[in-house]
Amino acid sequence: MIGKLNHIAIVVPDLDAASTVYRDLLGAVVSKPVEMPEHGVTTVFVELPNSKIELLLPLGEDSPITKFLGRNPTGGVHHICYEVVDIMLARDRLTAKGARVLGNGIPTLGAHNKPVLFLHPKDFCGTLIELEQA
Ligand code: CO
Repeated sequence: MIGKLNHIAIVVPDLDAASTVYRDLLGAVVSKPVEMPEHGVTTVFVELPNSKIELLLPLGEDSPITKFLGRNPTGGVHHICYEVVDIMLARDRLTAKGARVLGNGIPTLGAHNKPVLFLHPKDFCGTLIELEQA
């Protein structure tokens, strides 16, 4: 059911420092920071030949990643995003088998303006999974 790995998201305490690591140490192509107030994050996109890394910094009071950064002050892998062809079909198959979808189960528009859902880490090997309709 899942297709390509769309991105891995890493929460970081300092976007400039993280960009320097990916650009200067690892030699990747790194975007300028992009503020996404509707998602409560500022993002730097790291382009890899076969996927993307998204470096995330909390933005605003109600950022969904503030708590995560509190628990992981030096940063850490936050979620993995897999592409699916039909997100409603994917959701229904998963929930029929007992997997938990976070929130109200209705897809929202993600960072790439495509429908996304998040799946409960306890049902997926301790990993927060984002599904994005490609
Ligand atoms: Co994501």
